[in-house]
Amino acid sequence: MKQIITPAARLEGTIRLPGDKSISHRYGILASIAEGTSTIHHYSTGADCQSTLGCMRAMGVKAERREDGALVIEGRGLDGLQAPAGDLDAGNSGSTIRMLSGVLAAQKFTSRIAGDESLARRPMDRIMKPLALMGAEIEAIDGRFPPLTIHGRKLKPMRYEPPMASAQVKTCVLMAGLHCEGDTTVVEKISTRDHTELALREFGAAIDFNGGIITVKGPARLKGRELSVPGDLSSAAFFLVAAMIVPGSKLMIQGVGLNPSRSALLDWLMAAGAKLRVMNLAEVSGELVGDLLVTGGDVKGGLISGATTAALIDEIPVLSVLGAVSRDGLVVKDARELRVKETDRIATVAENMQRMGVSIEVYDDGFRIPGKQKFRAAEVDSFGDHRIAMAFAVAALAADGDTTVDNAEAASVSFPEFYATLRQITA
Ligand code: S3P
Repeated sequence: MKQIITPAARLEGTIRLPGDKSISHRYGILASIAEGTSTIHHYSTGADCQSTLGCMRAMGVKAERREDGALVIEGRGLDGLQAPAGDLDAGNSGSTIRMLSGVLAAQKFTSRIAGDESLARRPMDRIMKPLALMGAEIEAIDGRFPPLTIHGRKLKPMRYEPPMASAQVKTCVLMAGLHCEGDTTVVEKISTRDHTELALREFGAAIDFNGGIITVKGPARLKGRELSVPGDLSSAAFFLVAAMIVPGSKLMIQGVGLNPSRSALLDWLMAAGAKLRVMNLAEVSGELVGDLLVTGGDVKGGLISGATTAALIDEIPVLSVLGAVSRDGLVVKDARELRVKETDRIATVAENMQRMGVSIEVYDDGFRIPGKQKFRAAEVDSFGDHRIAMAFAVAALAADGDTTVDNAEAASVSFPEFYATLRQITA
């Protein structure tokens, strides 16, 4: 599908975003292995989170949308999953395959989990190694690519220090740890999003986390719960940047997840010149939630490196758009992980920037975009990557004519309502 994006005079209005993708995955998996019923409000509408539910359903879990939109999951308990009849389908979702593998490795059955073409190119050795240390037996293509054939085993607990900053790897190990006798610990050199830790606490697991050391005690008896998923801050990022780069904009985004392990984005945007107000802070299901009011202003640009890169990893495509029109430009370093996302996001950002007439210097682990550039109307491509589709739809708002986004439907992986929401605030 092609989307034609017309430059915007300004953005105005009040919006709410779909439920956070990261939190929805975790609630979907944990509710399935909990005892009793969970009611989850505002579960993500994105295809990735439906892939997680599809996998859980294939293992006998009843997960249904109620008329009011809430998702009701009948948990089967820690040992209640059934062997799936065929392959589990993770679709485009790295979170689904990596997090769920921790659960599958501890089952009494063998399962095979596969995904789409993009997922088939994403490295799984980062979860296979720690799971093997716990006693898991997993086969993969060339030892590291999906599909994964996972022979369930009784696993043993361990202490693990992931070599890369990855919340998915941490979560996979903790998911496996839930099934072990004793303490499983993950030690993080660079802290990553802590939604798993907060979710496990909500579901009643014995979990301890402090200063990058996370310990879960197994076997865990999780209790079904009523939970509410906040709006997705990574989805909000597209609109925050859009409001910043289109002069005269004023946008209110309500009910956004502001978990401190994700909200480095807000500090970074404010340092880059955003006029941002955070209002109505509240805690919902253990997560911090609030409203964001953003107005357009002078955009400065900046640097993303070190621990900040890990904290902003999903937002870098849209921040690159901000960088191009900013006063000082943008430098991104220490971002090798971008090369193994849904696409090689260093390459796909660079390709679309060039198509829109923006110069960019590419490094192995990042890029530099000089400031004060103008987007030329062009034909860009999502390359099947949701965040690339949305980032360049935002760039198109500031271009000198209509821009076409090819394969624009990729946005529905995390945000099916993206283009409709964009139309609502640019009308
Ligand atoms: C996620 C962690 C990040 C992020 C992904 C979601 C999560 O991946 O890019 O979109 O929900 O834990 P990594 O763990 O690979 O950094």
